[in-house]
Amino acid sequence: MVDPARQHADRVWAARYGVETGAALRFGSLSRRMWQAGAPEALVELAARASRDETRHASRCEDVLHSRQAPVPAPETRLLEYAPLELTPEQRLTYEVVAQSCVSETESMATLVTLLDAATTEFLKGVLHELARDEVAHARLGWGYLAWAKQRMDLAFLVPMLPRMVAGSAGPDLFRPAAAGTDDPALFHAGVVPHSERQRVYLETLEAVVIPGITEHGIDAAPLRDWVDARRAALTTSTAPAGA
Ligand SMILES: [Fe+2]
Ligand SMILES: [Fe+2]
Repeated sequence: MVDPARQHADRVWAARYGVETGAALRFGSLSRRMWQAGAPEALVELAARASRDETRHASRCEDVLHSRQAPVPAPETRLLEYAPLELTPEQRLTYEVVAQSCVSETESMATLVTLLDAATTEFLKGVLHELARDEVAHARLGWGYLAWAKQRMDLAFLVPMLPRMVAGSAGPDLFRPAAAGTDDPALFHAGVVPHSERQRVYLETLEAVVIPGITEHGIDAAPLRDWVDARRAALTTSTAPAGA
């Protein structure tokens, strides 16, 4: 019998493998570009270390896939970039650092921490703990970069782009209704956050960590806050009982 929740967990770990291999490439590129932009040595080195960490994370994901007897997909080999092309090279670097570190790594850390308590085996707990610990450092790199960048450039260009950035990081499925097997609470034990909980964690992390962080660096978070409010309102409507 095919268990949709089990299949979903296999797919999520395979997707994580792709994300980790892609993140290794991205941090390698960010490290080189930070060096070219004259960023402090410590940030350049942190990004280079993050790249090595992500390669190690990918191999942990491979271990999990093997333990589940699930296939390991091909690694990501493209250097994925998300910054709008009309930006200057320094703005594009800043966009990529904020998207990768301040948003994606922060969200990834929140996901992993949510999963730690529910992990049933020492093996899975160990993997989640290792990944979560490193993602903290990867997120911190973004805030360190912003502290340096804000003295050299006007970061206001980011303001209208933040909703697009966080929507991209969330992916196309997060705010859609749950597909079969994706909202099963048993997923927690397989190291996967069920769909509705993912939606909650994503928005809460934006509110509790990302928005205060960017605000602290002088970036107006109002459009991002509006985006979060709109997503939450849409979720409330879609989950309200009929006639409510
Ligand atoms: Fe990672
Ligand atoms: Fe990371």
